[in-house]
Amino acid sequence: MVVDNKATITYVQLIKEDLVIIRLVPNEGPVPEFKAGQFITLGLANPADNGKIVRRAYSIASHPENKDYIELVIRWVRKPLPGRLTTQLFNAKEGDEILWLKPTGRALLINEEYANGEKDNRRIICIGGGTGLAPFVSFAQHFHDIGDKREIIVLHGASYIDELSYKDLLTNLENESIAKGKDVWNFRYRAAISRPQEWFNRSWAGQIGRVETFLRPRDNDISALEELVGEKITKENSIFYVCGWQGTIDGVMDFLKPKDFVTEHDKREDGSFEVKYESYG
Ligand SMILES: Cc1cc2nc3c(=O)[nH]c(=O)nc-3n(C[C@H](O)[C@H](O)[C@H](O)COP(=O)(O)OP(=O)(O)OC[C@H]3O[C@@H](n4cnc5c(N)ncnc54)[C@H](O)[C@@H]3O)c2cc1C
Ligand SMILES: NC(=O)c1ccc[n+]([C@@H]2O[C@H](COP(=O)([O-])OP(=O)(O)OC[C@H]3O[C@@H](n4cnc5c(N)ncnc54)[C@H](OP(=O)(O)O)[C@@H]3O)[C@@H](O)[C@H]2O)c1
Repeated sequence: MVVDNKATITYVQLIKEDLVIIRLVPNEGPVPEFKAGQFITLGLANPADNGKIVRRAYSIASHPENKDYIELVIRWVRKPLPGRLTTQLFNAKEGDEILWLKPTGRALLINEEYANGEKDNRRIICIGGGTGLAPFVSFAQHFHDIGDKREIIVLHGASYIDELSYKDLLTNLENESIAKGKDVWNFRYRAAISRPQEWFNRSWAGQIGRVETFLRPRDNDISALEELVGEKITKENSIFYVCGWQGTIDGVMDFLKPKDFVTEHDKREDGSFEVKYESYG
């Protein structure tokens, strides 16, 4: 039988009508142990179904070193019918109780070693579509906290500029990297807006199109990502982590397959791979 734990919602930040950042603190015991890239399962009793508990997975945006709370970024699913858990979550208030199951998930664990046991020091490129950014907010804060010197790039794709949920935090991390130097903290953040023609997005001057367009070679055969990192992306120098719609994973692989990148799911006989992903089911 599943045994749910209880937590209290301690912080609710409504970014827009259907996008929220929430923080949870367990009612008993410390914030659970987890690894950057994992998800937690939340549950609430569904009044429309005789109080049956609805449980759903949410990627953790906070980092394992943060023992104060678990942070999540959640989209209210409204179509074709209001989502069972998210509709309840969007009615929740600070102080409300929620159920949780311990963090888990292997798909986006940070790769530390090659199959042969050697340390994996490749550049880490994280590509998040919408709320699929969450695991990479955790990656960035984790690397920053533990002083990991590997290069890490976070690319975020959103339809609207007000959905760039962690723009402040990630911009601050990049500014710190610029100020301290890449040998101390090696971090870059860029975003892409996929509906640039809409009036609401009129102030956007950055990358346009879906997030995978960062990988598209331009007229000079260099992609925006390659321009950012200052060299050609190869399977020897970079590993990718992707979270988002299956279309985002496929779009990324359309650019990487011709460069002989393979996913962990389809890893080679020797155990090698260059892409890890989690798609929106
Ligand atoms: C590993 C993982 C990590 C995740 N991380 C996040 C995250 O960080 N942030 C986030 O926002 N989400 C995340 N999700 C998605 C999340 O788990 C839920 O799937 C999502 O919040 C929707 O849950 P819900 O109960 O509100 O919707 P559900 O009730 O499960 O509805 C799902 C879909 O079915 C439709 N539907 C509902 N009822 C009916 C019905 N009776 N007939 C027909 N259609 C119906 C809904 O409109 C919706 O399109 C993650 C999922 C996974 C697997
Ligand atoms: N790990 C997981 O499984 C996981 C994690 C987080 C969220 N989710 C779930 O995923 C759902 C939607 O997420 P979201 O609201 O964060 O995304 P979103 O804001 O709707 O979309 C984010 C970006 O992805 C693009 N996009 C939309 N559909 C696409 C497709 N089929 N192929 C490629 N790109 C696409 C959008 O482009 P356009 O502007 O062109 O639409 C936008 O740029 C939510 O229901 C959430 O619960 C699952």
